[in-house]
Amino acid sequence: MASFTKASVENLKNQVNIVDVVGRAVKLKRAGSYFKGLCPFHNEKTPSFTVSDTRQYFTCFGCGARGDVIEFMMRYYNLGFGEAVEKLAEEYGVKLERRSGYRDQNLKEYYDVNQMAARYFYRAFTGGPNPGYSYMKGREITPRILKKFGIGYADREWDSLYRYLKSNGVRDEIMLELGLVSRSRGKIHDRFRNRVMFPIINTNGKVIGFGGRALEKDARAKYLNSPESKVFLKKNNLYGLNLSRQAAGKEGFLILVEGYMDAISLYQSGVENVSASLGTALTENQARLLHRYTNDVVLSYDADAAGRKAALRGIEILKAEQVRVRVLHVTDGKDPDEYVKVHGKEGFLELIDGALPYADYKLDSAKRHFDLASSEGRVGYLKEAARIIAS
Ligand code: CTP
Ligand code: MN
Repeated sequence: MASFTKASVENLKNQVNIVDVVGRAVKLKRAGSYFKGLCPFHNEKTPSFTVSDTRQYFTCFGCGARGDVIEFMMRYYNLGFGEAVEKLAEEYGVKLERRSGYRDQNLKEYYDVNQMAARYFYRAFTGGPNPGYSYMKGREITPRILKKFGIGYADREWDSLYRYLKSNGVRDEIMLELGLVSRSRGKIHDRFRNRVMFPIINTNGKVIGFGGRALEKDARAKYLNSPESKVFLKKNNLYGLNLSRQAAGKEGFLILVEGYMDAISLYQSGVENVSASLGTALTENQARLLHRYTNDVVLSYDADAAGRKAALRGIEILKAEQVRVRVLHVTDGKDPDEYVKVHGKEGFLELIDGALPYADYKLDSAKRHFDLASSEGRVGYLKEAARIIAS
């Protein structure tokens, strides 16, 4: 969270003129008391996008986009709030005041420690032969993509990360709170051992937590994630969105998958507008977060019962956030990772073309619950279908 004082953000808004800021990105024409142009947030041939000089506000009557100068920066350049403020201030030479409250200082320390851990895992992964690197190579992820996602390796030792952080002056309490280490019978040891590490990075570029994939079949959990902490709230974040939001803006939609590896695999295949929910059902906050970057989402969950249930729930949450939803389930292979390995980018894009709009998907799912061979079943289905269509 980049943090500037409220007063300095207000000052910034007073110093810049939204007509000028928008005018650099969109060709504007004066039309009475406001300015008009083609909306940059949807495709149109006749202008329905207006910018008001007096109100310092933009509104699109075509797609409903609206907001102040910072909102424009966030949407147009795909930035988080803090980044948008920073970019604007830099471009117009306006000074910002950083908030240096106790809370922010405090959080900064947490982010820094996570960052140190991520670098430590990354060095272990890239520094020489290790089971983590071999594993990811086996899964056909290229060095370029491994680097892009900052993939790392947590070794087999009991306390190598702990000793490393300690020798760099990190306090035990912080490591414990971040869930990098845990305490048992008075001794502190690493939480992640012999795992491939996926740093989870928020849209402000901060490492907020980790997912670790076991390399041994008999490990307690295939994936072990950081526990929730002051800086890691699963319900507020999506994996990979830091890398994919740009492409989501460009492509006009975002693909939501279940797993870390699904996101990475699709990204590598050239489908870069992809993000993964963090092993939980989609939340309202996640929907709000992704709505900042797109208003069109393709849910691509596994084809099993859990995946279908998650899709139905996801639909409701995204619709409530006014986001357009389509759903696809891979037809070959267990998940998008396996699918794209076999069929490539083109194959996956075909699945997207065939993705069902939300009402069709709901009708399709409802059908599964009725025996259409019997007349009771058909009547039941028709009633349910009428309800879905009415909504
Ligand atoms: N997950 C989790 N904890 C688990 C299992 C799964 O948090 N114990 C989350 C992870 O984010 C994982 C996703 O749910 O990526 C999907 O899990 P699953 O379908 O079991 O695994 P895959 O993504 O297919 O993992 P892989 O391809 O590495 O086997
Ligand atoms: Mn998988």
